[in-house]
Amino acid sequence: CGIVGYIGDRPLWPVLLEGLRRLEYRGYDSAGVVYFRKNDIEITKVKGRVYDLEERLYRKDTSGVGAPGLGHTRWATHGEPSDENAHPHFDCSKGLALVHNGIIENYYQLKERLLKKGHTFVSATDTEVIVHLIEDYYKEGFSLWEAFLKAINELQGAFAIALISNKEPDKILVARYQSPLVIGLGEKESFLASDIPALLPFTKRVVFLQDKECAILSKEGLKLFDFEGNSKDYTETTIHWDLSQAEKGGFPHFMLKEIFEQPQAIQNTLLGRISLETFEIDLLQKEIDWLKEIVKIYVVACGTSYHAGLVGKFFLERFTQIPVEVELASEFRYREPLLHERCLFLGISQSGETADTLASLRLAKEKGAKVISICNVLGSSIARESEIVLYTQAGPEISVASTKAFTTQVLMLLLLALYIQKIKKGLNQYPELIEKLLHLPVILQEFLDKSYPRVKEISKKWYQAKDFLYLGRNILYPIALEGALKLKEIAYIHAEGYAAGEMKHGPIALIEESFPTIILAAKETGLVYEKTLSNAEEIKTRRGPLIGITTQGSEEVKRLCEDYLEVPQVPYEFLPIFYVVPLQLIAYEMAVLRGCDVDRPRNLAKSVTVE
Ligand code: G6P
Repeated sequence: CGIVGYIGDRPLWPVLLEGLRRLEYRGYDSAGVVYFRKNDIEITKVKGRVYDLEERLYRKDTSGVGAPGLGHTRWATHGEPSDENAHPHFDCSKGLALVHNGIIENYYQLKERLLKKGHTFVSATDTEVIVHLIEDYYKEGFSLWEAFLKAINELQGAFAIALISNKEPDKILVARYQSPLVIGLGEKESFLASDIPALLPFTKRVVFLQDKECAILSKEGLKLFDFEGNSKDYTETTIHWDLSQAEKGGFPHFMLKEIFEQPQAIQNTLLGRISLETFEIDLLQKEIDWLKEIVKIYVVACGTSYHAGLVGKFFLERFTQIPVEVELASEFRYREPLLHERCLFLGISQSGETADTLASLRLAKEKGAKVISICNVLGSSIARESEIVLYTQAGPEISVASTKAFTTQVLMLLLLALYIQKIKKGLNQYPELIEKLLHLPVILQEFLDKSYPRVKEISKKWYQAKDFLYLGRNILYPIALEGALKLKEIAYIHAEGYAAGEMKHGPIALIEESFPTIILAAKETGLVYEKTLSNAEEIKTRRGPLIGITTQGSEEVKRLCEDYLEVPQVPYEFLPIFYVVPLQLIAYEMAVLRGCDVDRPRNLAKSVTVE
């Protein structure tokens, strides 16, 4: 989602609407603004794009409108895209209005409490609880600022919020925890936004809010505080980015930005799904009886999502003991799969709109199978037609080549497998593994930062090769497929992913000095690690150059390979995520070196809604 806000003497619409237009790339299912009009606050919001919001405003009487005002463009996480669920949200008295980015994990508990106290809710969003919570404290007699502080200290999850009130029209209150928020400074005016692009036309002087910081914005500028209300100093930064750089968060391409967003996307996908006391996973918030009765799982998807499904098979079979078949949707829909009511159809789709996956889902439903989907886009066709949807919280993925959607799908499949295990056994047998999941984002971030320079060196050396072979076994075999797909998609280099043990049945005939192989080998895969090394030997004997991706301390791989990159030691279940990241980066770097249009590769579409 995107947030903008302004307090000062400029006409309000240009600031809010221009800001929103510049944030639309972050989410565009609905948009809204709140503003002062004749000493009161008014909200206008619509399902649709910023353009639709402008149309609505155009038809309204907006004479006498002035700052402060806030705007929001939404990428739905809780609640379908609709007028009601669009931001800003009001409290009961309609004296407070708030916009929010992020996810409130404990919104359900807070909502129950507030309902009992007589609050009425008009939307299905997690955001609306925040504004009612502030209202509740305000009504108890706390000042607006005190009520705001009390409320933000009760929120769990991730949030960037901004609030205005008709009680104190001379200020905007803001807070940040794990969702970005930037303050723009001016002469007798202040701005706020979730991202730099919205601020660029108006100011280059900014202050990046840090986690657990909140602030009061007014015409006089910014007053910064911690969540206890203690005053803090801030550091001003001058932004020299142009608009296109700013949209990409300073990265040269969306793909690279999205690769680096993976720790955050994983963090967001974990939010609210793991109990921090018991390390139990809760995905559905209610018991689904039929889940215990499932005897067969069909995982169906296309492209990168299909590769996530192949990884998922390892998790699902290992933890649930239910046999799993993974199929390409374009195949599944045209054969006669043996489906019945004790089968689970698990559809995976980033966009939720892929035609073949949707048709497969309809077929499965027709045959009486139970349906769960893993989607990234809320309210998409596949999501709407599924009994249960598990949303990856990757945020909008703009680059055609999928990266953060893949890693969050893999994560969601692991969570689902562990969840079904608990439901079937009535006992969580894997609390240690689940606890480790909570550390995954931090370790992944360190790995990304550390490995990128090494990836650049490797890519520079090899980007002129005409063909690549990617080899892996076990849980790294789907990663070999995904690595090869990425290279084909964006660098236009012919690449084949193969099961390393199968190599001797064909591809070995291709091996020669000009045909490099990227070999994925992890000690954590047990027995097949040694076997992968033997496969590497077979290539070396035939003078094929080897690039190894391997876990720290694997001296054998280093000895065999011309180049290698080390992955930190992580549990077996995390390997796919850690191994795919360098492959995404290699594809990206080689595509850049070859002068390709990384974010918009030729002939490809982000969402394939035709057969
Ligand atoms: C297209 C995209 C791929 C994506 C595939 C499936 O081919 O270019 O990146 O993996 O569709 O899309 P979905 O939205 O169903 O995951």
